[in-house]
Amino acid sequence: MDIRQRRTIRKYTQQPVSDELLNRLIEDASRTQTMGNLQLYSVVVTRSAAMKEMLAPAHFCQPMVTQAPVVLTICADFRRTSDWCLQRQASPGYDNALSFLNAATDALLFTQTFCCLAEEAGLGICFLGTTVYQPQAIIATLDLPELVFPVATLTVGWPAEHPDQTDRLPLQAIVHRETYSAFTPERIDACYSNRESLPENKHFVEVNNKETLAQVFTDVRYTRKDNEAMSEGLLAALTGQKFLREDALQGGTPKVVERRPDILECDVVRFQNNKERWVAFVGLLDGAPYEIFTGLQDDEEGIAIPKSVQKGFIVKHYDSDGQKHYDFQFVNKRGYKTTIEGLSERFNPKYWDYAKLISGVLRYRMPIDHVIRLISSLQLENDTINSWTAGVARVLKKYLPESITVDEEELESEK
Ligand SMILES: Cc1cc2nc3c(=O)[nH]c(=O)nc-3n(C[C@H](O)[C@H](O)[C@H](O)COP(=O)(O)O)c2cc1C
Repeated sequence: MDIRQRRTIRKYTQQPVSDELLNRLIEDASRTQTMGNLQLYSVVVTRSAAMKEMLAPAHFCQPMVTQAPVVLTICADFRRTSDWCLQRQASPGYDNALSFLNAATDALLFTQTFCCLAEEAGLGICFLGTTVYQPQAIIATLDLPELVFPVATLTVGWPAEHPDQTDRLPLQAIVHRETYSAFTPERIDACYSNRESLPENKHFVEVNNKETLAQVFTDVRYTRKDNEAMSEGLLAALTGQKFLREDALQGGTPKVVERRPDILECDVVRFQNNKERWVAFVGLLDGAPYEIFTGLQDDEEGIAIPKSVQKGFIVKHYDSDGQKHYDFQFVNKRGYKTTIEGLSERFNPKYWDYAKLISGVLRYRMPIDHVIRLISSLQLENDTINSWTAGVARVLKKYLPESITVDEEELESEK
């Protein structure tokens, strides 16, 4: 079918859609491009009347669900890929938001290809966005395991209607040349005036007792209240399916994450240690200090980084002999990425050991004021190290919550 002739079909004849045709369409649609060719999606085919009845409430009982011969639920799926990795001595790291987005992208691209092929074969389809409105009900009904999440539903059948085509916004509404150009009031008028003048839309405004078509969308069809309530359900379901973690902040205390992520954001904080200029790299997770590296700022032997650099990343990597290293990466003023290798090897092992202890305390999320008091109370064997701990305590003060202060006198008395 010519794409310019397509329309959504919501009424179907009782003529069955054969397994042979359906399988061919799904197989052909699987030629769609996907991330790393991993095909991060799966399709649950629903034909039984009982299962359609169970799915219908999740779709606000839209009649197509029970009336269509076939209902397809297309899921973002990292389960199969993760199982494959586990079975092949590979460690999958796909229980996160980025992986969900990647899998959802694959699933939706597949869905659209299927739609085009099905319409070309003469079938009628309707895409149900309600899939992501109450996903938990669909997850339970279809028995979806962790790392599988429904993102689209299609009702599929032979058309029993030939509705008028819907309008489209003009090209200038969707195309920007080279950079995004803001919408002036005149351009908004030019984009939407035709749509607003259509009799069916005028009728829509009238029966809903509204003044504008936009109000029908904001006040009736897709309201803030509904969007916010359904967003909560969506996040809860994504958490339940293990694509998102439990709230990063639990009661104001950052969550304990034992396995250090391979990359951590970090702040670069300069401090004075005796007469020397030192620098601390404070790795951050969920916005709170998670580890600290320190070193002499020195062009010859220590760390030389431009003064303007305040932030970067601490990257963990392993050598071919299994040795672990931490590098500091930053982007300089001209936009070039620079890496300073081996943060851990650059320093006097004694400082490194104390920094490791402090990092251990940070990793297990001891409140920062307690960490500062603890560090300040240490009585180490020489003045240089004592001056270093005082410097580190000062660095960490930057991360105290606004409501908590730790003054110098108090720290002195800790000694
Ligand atoms: C993300 C998305 C969600 C949709 N959800 C629904 C839905 O829940 N119910 C429905 O009847 N149509 C749904 N549709 C179909 C649209 O209403 C339809 O594509 C649009 O009005 C344009 O009409 P046309 O497809 O006939 O050109 C959805 C389409 C998309 C892409």
